[in-house]
Amino acid sequence: MFFLCQIVALQHMIPKHKVDEILMTAQIEDVIADFVNIKKSGRQYKGLSPFANEKTPSFYVVPEKQIFKDFSSGKGGNVATFLMEHEHFTFPEALRFLAKRYNIELEEEELSDEQKQAESERESLYIVTEYGQKHFQENLHDSDEGKSIGLGYFKERGFTEETIDKFKLGYAKNDWEYFYKTAIDNGYQEQFLESSGLIKKSPKGDHKYYDGFKGRVIFPIHNLSGRPLGFGARTLLTDKKVPKYLNSPESLIYNKSAVLYGIYFAKGEIIKEDNCYLVEGYTDVIQLYQSGIKNVVSSSGTALTQDQIKLIKRYTNSITLLYDGDAAGIRASFRGIDMILEEGMNVKMVTFPEGEDPDSFAKANDLEDIQSYLNDNAKDFIVTKTSLLLSDTGNDPIKRAGLIKDIVSTIALIPEEISRSVYIKECSTLLDVPEKVLINELNKIRRKNHADKNKGYGAPSEMPPEEAGHDFEGDQQDKKVGLGDNIDDQEKDLLRILLNYGDKNITFLNEAKEEVEVNVAQFIVHEIQRDEMEFSKPEFAILLEKIEAMLGDDNWNISDIINHSDANVSGITAELLASRYELHAWDKHQITVPSEEDKLKRAVEGSIYAFKLKNVAKMIFDNQKEMKTAQESGDIDKAMLLQKEQIILNQIVSSLSKPSGRIIIN
Ligand code: GTP
Ligand code: MN
Repeated sequence: MFFLCQIVALQHMIPKHKVDEILMTAQIEDVIADFVNIKKSGRQYKGLSPFANEKTPSFYVVPEKQIFKDFSSGKGGNVATFLMEHEHFTFPEALRFLAKRYNIELEEEELSDEQKQAESERESLYIVTEYGQKHFQENLHDSDEGKSIGLGYFKERGFTEETIDKFKLGYAKNDWEYFYKTAIDNGYQEQFLESSGLIKKSPKGDHKYYDGFKGRVIFPIHNLSGRPLGFGARTLLTDKKVPKYLNSPESLIYNKSAVLYGIYFAKGEIIKEDNCYLVEGYTDVIQLYQSGIKNVVSSSGTALTQDQIKLIKRYTNSITLLYDGDAAGIRASFRGIDMILEEGMNVKMVTFPEGEDPDSFAKANDLEDIQSYLNDNAKDFIVTKTSLLLSDTGNDPIKRAGLIKDIVSTIALIPEEISRSVYIKECSTLLDVPEKVLINELNKIRRKNHADKNKGYGAPSEMPPEEAGHDFEGDQQDKKVGLGDNIDDQEKDLLRILLNYGDKNITFLNEAKEEVEVNVAQFIVHEIQRDEMEFSKPEFAILLEKIEAMLGDDNWNISDIINHSDANVSGITAELLASRYELHAWDKHQITVPSEEDKLKRAVEGSIYAFKLKNVAKMIFDNQKEMKTAQESGDIDKAMLLQKEQIILNQIVSSLSKPSGRIIIN
């Protein structure tokens, strides 16, 4: 949805003719040359991938087509896509950037007085926060108190000078008014100093102020571009009654739920490693970073939020949670895991030995040991969750049933069917419960979640029943629940597979039990055409048409689609490409490891089945409505005719090829 929102917003702000003008004017090779060292080689340019670590160039720019392709990471697209990938711009931001570079004028909307006021307040807050950061740094390095107490503390934690400078750590003197007076002397206003938490009003009601962070070491919290937004301030006292950390309050610039500590330093590494480590605190981030694990951020003391997860998602689709190993710590991570899965991301967990946290562990080990510990102990969430819960329930059958429900509801949150099905398989092995039982439970939960979310809309995409044993008739009552109009989910799922895996091949056994290799895109398109099915939304239909046109081409190249002039088409394409599920991301420690191709095959079959089922179900639904009207108005002939159609439709339902891994093209 992220991309779609951007496109919608864009339509209000940059008119279509401007978008076209910008995209036509921009020369991809010039723009990319600002970011990547590329050299001409024949009709194209070549360079080292900016998205991966590599020694031989596999990054290409093709001026003729105005596209780039990076064979290392698989990324590719036009000039705007490049900026979105490389600079993490939104689409409108990319356009603004290009407009500026090529002197194309964009009529910006006028700010209202209120907006101007907020803008200047925001800027004032940034300025006092920057001042605070500098002040605390100077205290740390230049004052005797700072050097002996603050610097002494950081050194004892094992932080080097370089690290202390990099994270701009500081110290607030142990004085009620030292900061306050210095700041006022330098012309900073009370109002902004107070909203940033640097000073606080005295509780005595005498309108006096005192220093908010007195006697504490300071961890500035930075935004994506490195500007300080607020502070975390740690006491050096061991008195349990004193709060260990004090934080700046929420303000116009500091929105706690949308900020991650360390993101400014980590973002480039997160992209390179295609993974983000999430830890609990400031010192965990800093210690790991110093050890060489730089793709690390923290939600710093607050519970993980959806906004923070979305922020990480701009850079990678994988999160690894690093938690203390005790059961309480693991349990505390469950909510976070659910939220990450719901975002369609991969999540793993590493726990540390009793009494250790990432900070102490990183301090005590060298990079190689840390790396191998992280790699060896990264466990799939399902393994961690299941084994912890299993140890709680023992053999109590009622608790066990609750446990199954609990785990299946977590799996039910995963948006993509392909991964749901893999997890169900794994869960079935771990819990020793037949897959069919789990799938029933899963579909029930998904239907319920969907109904709760979209009262009155159609049904969610369901996992196809396992193998031949499934009794469709028995389920029909249930299926009727959601025969509304919304079949977008199924259509999107098919398109997602087409765009991401259309060029792959899968093999089926034919009736003679011979293996037949089939191209995914050809197979899906053939299945849709054979049954004369159509997509409901114009942008879906255009996409499908484009894909059909590429069939049989040796060059499977989806950049034309990404570049499509219809923002709805390019938008949905970007969204679907962005939500590609990594087929290969499965843990090597998993108990069952379905082959890549098996997973893809299941996804293809399941998706086609769900799409067809939904289409026919809709016809049945419409037919029933019509039949009712005909009966009520006494049009018996028409009702009879519709009745016959109904029978045929029901026959079609039972003749639909159920996913079995044995379909062949005919
Ligand atoms: P030690 O491990 O005892 O040396 O302290 P630490 O500074 O590493 O903090 P600790 O491990 O106790 O806590 C980890 C993270 O939890 C911190 O970095 C903070 O983000 C958060 N935290 C801990 N105590 C507090 C508190 O009192 N208030 C707030 N807001 N956050 C806290
Ligand atoms: Mn700690």
